[in-house]
Amino acid sequence: MPSQELIDPLRGVLARIMALITPGDIKYSFFAASGTEAVEGAIKVAKLYTQKPAFIVALNAFHGKTMGSLSMIGKALFREPMGILYGGPVYHVPFGNADAVERQLEACKHLGIGVAAVLMEPIQGEAGAIVPPDDFWPRIREATKYYGTLLIADEVQTGLGRTGKLWGVEHWNVTPDIIAVGKSFGGGVMPISAVCSTEEIWKPMMEPNPFIHTTTTGGGALACSAAIATINVILREKLWEVAAKKGNYIFPKLKALAEKYPKMVEKVTGKGLLIGLHFKTEEIGYKIAAGLFKRGVLVAGTLISSKTIRIEPPLVITYEQIDTVLNRLEDVLKDVSKSK
Ligand SMILES: Cc1ncc(COP(=O)(O)O)c(C=O)c1O
Repeated sequence: MPSQELIDPLRGVLARIMALITPGDIKYSFFAASGTEAVEGAIKVAKLYTQKPAFIVALNAFHGKTMGSLSMIGKALFREPMGILYGGPVYHVPFGNADAVERQLEACKHLGIGVAAVLMEPIQGEAGAIVPPDDFWPRIREATKYYGTLLIADEVQTGLGRTGKLWGVEHWNVTPDIIAVGKSFGGGVMPISAVCSTEEIWKPMMEPNPFIHTTTTGGGALACSAAIATINVILREKLWEVAAKKGNYIFPKLKALAEKYPKMVEKVTGKGLLIGLHFKTEEIGYKIAAGLFKRGVLVAGTLISSKTIRIEPPLVITYEQIDTVLNRLEDVLKDVSKSK
């Protein structure tokens, strides 16, 4: 078992790498196993630093299913059965609506309710690859600074290249105060996640009690070595550029299909290789996903509704494989349109 007192060399190396590749002056990392633990860490770091209780989050957001993260997600489906969640105030606003975030910050100031952080996904993943308007992230960055609130980017899904930039927030040149990283961080084979922040914000995590937030198995040597190897490949192959190029290849083709089947397909959303295909009804979405599965193509439903399917191939997918998927999708659309 790794010791909490002695730094494991691989953990140290990975933390240094994260300091180098994360946006702005983000410098310190805490490693855990799952995305939801990274978000829990982000919540605690924000609370410790600001000593404020409230969070502003988005409707339809997904951040994980442990109690803290669950409190921040934006759908009743997983929250409601669990009853009372986080004890402090959590305000849900429509994603992509900077006015709503600003209004909520102003209302909290008016009411004397301290807001620890605004927590959002750069592009909403589980909600169906929902891209916010271009002014959203710059405006919420400005507003959080103005109101003395931290900005947390949940990059668990968008981070490490999937959307066509190394970090999702880079699409808008925004530097958050805290980021959460997970999923592909372990190269798809090891469970590892991270919460990362600046020296200033991290201080109360180290003093007076450096054991205020720990985990025994998180950031183990094997997991850290997998993350180091993953980042090595991502940087060496510039996988974010690869994702952007492949996304640019796929999007026009998907949009053409959407135009060809307007009674079935509502819209295509996303960036890079984080793609949402939205159908007019849940029934159509379900039939398309099932038809694709029969043809050997596995797509992710969203956890929220089968009306939307997510296309999230590995960034190393070949163009030949992309064409195969698009051909099979067209085939299914044709089939389902006939059966309607
Ligand atoms: C944006 C986001 N945050 C957090 C999580 C939770 O990660 P995990 O399932 O590893 O706990 C997810 C998982 O889908 C996610 O998409």
